[in-house]
Amino acid sequence: NYYAILMAGGVGSRFWPISTQDFPKQFHDMLGTGDTLIQKTFHRLADLIPKENIFILTNERYNDLVLEQLPEVEQRQVVLEPAMRNTAPCILYASLKIQKENPDAVMIVAPSDHWIEDEKTFSKNVQQAFDYCENNDALMTLGIQPTFPNTGYGYIEFDKSSAEAIKTVNQFREKPDYETAKSFISQGNFLWNAGIFMWSAKSVIKAFQNNQPELFKLFESGIPLYNTEFENEFIKENYPNAENVSVDYAIMEKSANVHVIAAEFDWNDLGTWGSLYDKLDKDESGNAVVNARTLAEDASGNMIRTKKDKIVVIDGLQDYIVVDKEEVLLIFPKSKEQDIKMTLQQVKDKF
Ligand code: GDD
Ligand code: MG
Repeated sequence: NYYAILMAGGVGSRFWPISTQDFPKQFHDMLGTGDTLIQKTFHRLADLIPKENIFILTNERYNDLVLEQLPEVEQRQVVLEPAMRNTAPCILYASLKIQKENPDAVMIVAPSDHWIEDEKTFSKNVQQAFDYCENNDALMTLGIQPTFPNTGYGYIEFDKSSAEAIKTVNQFREKPDYETAKSFISQGNFLWNAGIFMWSAKSVIKAFQNNQPELFKLFESGIPLYNTEFENEFIKENYPNAENVSVDYAIMEKSANVHVIAAEFDWNDLGTWGSLYDKLDKDESGNAVVNARTLAEDASGNMIRTKKDKIVVIDGLQDYIVVDKEEVLLIFPKSKEQDIKMTLQQVKDKF
């Protein structure tokens, strides 16, 4: 009864120039290991979940990329969104589809672009969550020990009194402001939301039915067509009418049956070049290098990526991102990595 929804519809604009709208980061070998992020994620999930029960949700323009990179996946497992509507619509849509196939389904919903190295422990935690969700009406989150008041994450306040591995959640707060995030962290019983969820199809559909009745109605009307030759028409016509909202705001903040299991593995959502730098092995001087061969003098803290085997000589450069792609060379301070998204817009406007 195990299923997965792999979300692969994001654009990853802070990883420009490698990640682009036509070829986003989940389809790149960001770590330089030979596998793309979506391939890594798929194989991590396939440890626990039958391959044919893993559904990939993505924009229709990435269909070929998915089938090319995951040859074990059949077209029926790739759900193509005709418009970007964030994570709530895609999760509800896929959950209804899965429930039609198997009313007792228990599933994991996972982004396709995160870094998790310890696959064994990951599987162990997911199995614990599955066992719980099979028998309880629960929306399960994976919690990460926070290290600073990051305002880009969801925060999970767990019940301090509970000694169990799986804790009940008092409050789920998506992307609080800086002061709130700071106060959360100082209280000690808050975890970051890893953006990975586990639940039964029944529970998640009920949560949508209660909290997003319009969205629910929209997609429920298609249930008779799901997994038939008529589904394509239905999704093309109706998906664009879904509200653009993330699952965090749509149901997680609003539900009383949220639970959390503290992740026992190291996790990173690879949101920026800097977070990638943190996770890569460094050369003798402390530079993270993908594909390049470097000669570094008085140079450290740099994130360098080129095409295969290009020789890069650096001298007197600290904490920079250097990314070389055919038509673009990016040299950007790591401390301003968040601005790459804006810079990309300026580049588009200018050239
Ligand atoms: N299929 C599909 N369609 N996938 C999408 C879409 C869409 O329209 N929009 C986003 N995704 C995918 C992204 O590619 C990413 O893998 C995942 O869904 C989450 O979207 P993000 O846009 O990266 O979310 P976020 O980073 O703002 O916040 C979420 O993740 C944080 C941890 O990384 C939230 O769940 C936070 O609470 C959480 O802390
Ligand atoms: Mg993200």
